[in-house]
Amino acid sequence: MSENLIDQIDTDKLPLHIAIIMDGNGRWAKKKSLPRVVGHEYGVKSVRVVAETAAKLGVKYLTLYTFSTENWNRPAFEVKAIMTLLVRTIRSEIKTLQKNNIRLKAIGDIDNLPPDAKKELLSAIELTKNNDSMDLILALNYSARWDIVHATKKIAEMVKNNEISINDINESIISKSLTSGEFPEPELLIRTSGELRISNFMLWELAYGEFYFTDIYWPEFDKNAFYKAILDYQKRERRFGKTSEQVH
Ligand code: FPP
Repeated sequence: MSENLIDQIDTDKLPLHIAIIMDGNGRWAKKKSLPRVVGHEYGVKSVRVVAETAAKLGVKYLTLYTFSTENWNRPAFEVKAIMTLLVRTIRSEIKTLQKNNIRLKAIGDIDNLPPDAKKELLSAIELTKNNDSMDLILALNYSARWDIVHATKKIAEMVKNNEISINDINESIISKSLTSGEFPEPELLIRTSGELRISNFMLWELAYGEFYFTDIYWPEFDKNAFYKAILDYQKRERRFGKTSEQVH
């Protein structure tokens, strides 16, 4: 089955950048009468499978919505468990990253992560900085509106310091000032678990993104589910506001 799906993928038309809202860990655990935290632990397995599969296919950037600014409002023990899992996973998955030549990156308010999480993350980013098959970008302490406000402050600072004038402000400067500024925009957004929302994720960058929703809970999202999302994307016609005739 897996062989079949992968054979249908046109590797010349892969999205360069795929972004994923990994949703449904809690509901998957509940369905199995397990604590929510176990859902997050199984979610890590899907992260590993999807990252390896994406790198092997030739995807160049994979962004995962791992912890949102709003997630701090969850019960304290769950926040703590996710942060502990994050530290443990980054430490234990370094070898997976190195083996697959994947470079770790992050977007979001990284400076305000708990110190141990920040330290582990920055250390893994440094250790993998020369890898070049794919960038695995973790959105951590991230919200798109925070990123836009943060970018606006950076730009205001540049104007204040006479580095640019107000008339120089354009879409490119705003894109580059986001914490995602060094990456191209995602062509494909995947959200698992049947929710049909964007939840404050890459609002600027997804202006022309294709959205793919699946009912599968994140811990059950596997290679085949990933291939299906890519195949669905490859059937679409991306018009960027033009007519169908113009793009053909
Ligand atoms: C969404 O499920 C998932 C999260 C908020 C956390 C995602 C974290 C991981 C998969 C673990 C760490 C990952 C890495 C990359 C090291 P949910 O809890 O919102 O599920 P629900 O909507 O069913 O409650």
